[in-house]
This record gives sequence, structure tokens and C-alpha cells, in this order.
Amino acid sequence: MRMLPIAEPARIAVEAERPYQVLVGHGLLAEVPVLLDAGVQRVALLHPPTMIKTAVRLANLLTAAGLEPVRIDVPDAEAAKSVAVAERCWSILGNAGFTRSDGVIGLGGGATTDLAGFVAATWLRGVRVVMVPTSLLGMVDAAVGGKTGINTAEGKNLVGCFYEPVGVVCDLDLLATLLTPHLIAGLAEVIKCGFIADPEILTMIESDAVAAVRPDSPLLRDLVERAVLVKARVVTADLRETASTGYAVGRELLNYGHTLGHAIERREGFGWRHGDAVSVGMIFAAELARLAGRLDQETAQRHRLVLSSVGLPTSYPADAFDDLLHTMAIDKKTRGSTLRFVILNGLASAEILAAPDHDLLRAAYAAVAA
Ligand code: GLY
Repeated sequence: MRMLPIAEPARIAVEAERPYQVLVGHGLLAEVPVLLDAGVQRVALLHPPTMIKTAVRLANLLTAAGLEPVRIDVPDAEAAKSVAVAERCWSILGNAGFTRSDGVIGLGGGATTDLAGFVAATWLRGVRVVMVPTSLLGMVDAAVGGKTGINTAEGKNLVGCFYEPVGVVCDLDLLATLLTPHLIAGLAEVIKCGFIADPEILTMIESDAVAAVRPDSPLLRDLVERAVLVKARVVTADLRETASTGYAVGRELLNYGHTLGHAIERREGFGWRHGDAVSVGMIFAAELARLAGRLDQETAQRHRLVLSSVGLPTSYPADAFDDLLHTMAIDKKTRGSTLRFVILNGLASAEILAAPDHDLLRAAYAAVAA
């Protein structure tokens, strides 16, 4: 049988404080040791139990490259992001004699890469970290951009820091094991990138929504590349989210749809997938912009059409509005006690709507009220 050549990965540059590349393609695990750089000897490989097979494969590649991998099994999903798990990792690094020239790899979804980044940032005040996201959400959002953190009893991501990886490897082969609802939820962040910065993403999904949810499709590869490019540009311009002041939109742009989305996640006790909540949040934000006279009807309606075409939710219970409003008001994204929404005044053109009238918010909520 003639083997088809594996296409070269896309290499997308993030040039904020410590430039690095995000690789997107198939069959890329062998790139991970290359990114760790000469001088690294020991490598902590953090992964959830579900990724054991890939972790063993990656550990073998690291060994073959002359490195000393130490696999650290961490709990699945958000349970990984605790000080107790971070402490266990620090203890393993200490016992294995990790020095400042050793490294960390985060292999898993967004929670694993957030934890791995935090452990790398805090061990000896910072060692190299490579992210290997295994979920679509991780590839297009969590693993890129240097946000690291853990949760506390008081809330999510309350402890953390900006710490950039030395590289991110988005091996699309890893998406084959992802359950379809999780892949679809990841597409919400891809579609977000379409609305806030790259409308070609929307056209591509509209042309073939079925291929968009197929992990091995060339279309999905192109979508991931384009979404990573959007994220790379935004974080290159405003890594530490300091440009988002007053009405200016810096990294806060990436929070499009997230103000209501986060409130839904909290109300659901984080039982809703993040992307599903953001999907409803984007439809709400579009309607808010339309009612505020900033966005045209057609673009607002396009949100519902594109999001529903890939199977994302478009509604939430009608009687939840007061709860959601209360939660939004205390959300950490609120700045200076002012409720802020990223809204669009056209495709790829955003602004901040600060302190909107509650009646306006209630009217916009009617667009998603089930
Ligand atoms: N996930 C939003 C950000 O990276 O800023």
C-alpha cells in the first residue's frame, strides 16, 4: 500500500514576550522533544488517566530523544486544577531532582494544560513547558496564550499567572478519541474567532458543517489553523490583558459570548460544557448589540444559524435571567464593578458595551429564552 505523505504542519508564531510557535497538523508527537530544546534532561509529563496510551507513546519518544520522562498521572478535567494536585507535582519534581534546566509537558485538555503551565511557572520560578492539547477547546484556546492557573474553593482560575510555553503541538490525530459533543463544544470557540476576527471561518463552516465536526477532515484542520492564528494575533498584541480598559478591546476580545456563558456554567455547577455555554452567550451578545443599535439583524441572525448548524445549543431556560444577571454582576470579568460585554458592531469589529441597562439585557435574553 502506498503511504500518503503527511502534510507539513502549519507553524503559527506567537510573539508576545517569549516568542514560540503553535504547530497544527497530523502525526506531530515527535515534534515535542524538539521543542524542549537542548539542555533539558528530565521532563515531567502531566496527563489524565484517559490519555495513558498517548502518554506512554510520548514518553517513549522522549526517551528515544535522550530525555528522562517522568509521567505524572493527574485527575481528569477540573479536578486537576487544585493546589493539592499542584503540590503532588512539585513533590514529584523535587524528589526526581528537577533543576531549572528541566521541563514540563502538559498532555490533555484545557485543565491539564492550565495545571502544567502553573506547575512549570512556579517550579524554581519557571521551567520550560510544552503544551500538547488533546481537545479542540485546548488547541484553539486554553493551550495558547500563556494563561495558567488552578481553582480554589472560592472559584475557578483565582490563582495563576501568565507564563508562556516554549511551544504548543496541536496534533489533530489526538482528536479522534474525543467524544463528538466535546468536539462540537470546541467549535464554539472556533466560531467565536470567526465573528470577532476572521469571517472566512464562518463561510467555511456554512459551506460544510458536517465536515467541520469530523476530526479527520481537512476542513477542521483549516479551521483550527485559522482559529489559532486569531488567538495568536490577539495575545501577541495584549498578552496580559492590560489593553482592555475603558472602551478599548484587547485580549478581552476573546471573552466574546463569555459574560453570559460563564454565568450559565456557574448556574449549572459547571455541568454544561464551556463551549455550549459560550454558544448561548454569543447569541445573547449579538442580540444585545442589535438592540443597542450597533449590529445589523442579518449578522445577529447568522450567529444562531452557524452555531446551530454544528449542533451547538442556542437557548437556556426563560426563568433563569435574574439568576444569571446576579452571577454576571459578581463575575471576575467585571471591572471596577461595571458589567462589561464584548459586542460586535459588525463582523470582525468589536467594542465594549459597559453597564448596559438591565431592561436592555432582559430584552436581549428573550433571544435565547427557551
Ligand atoms: N480564554 C481566553 C483567553 O485566553 O484570554
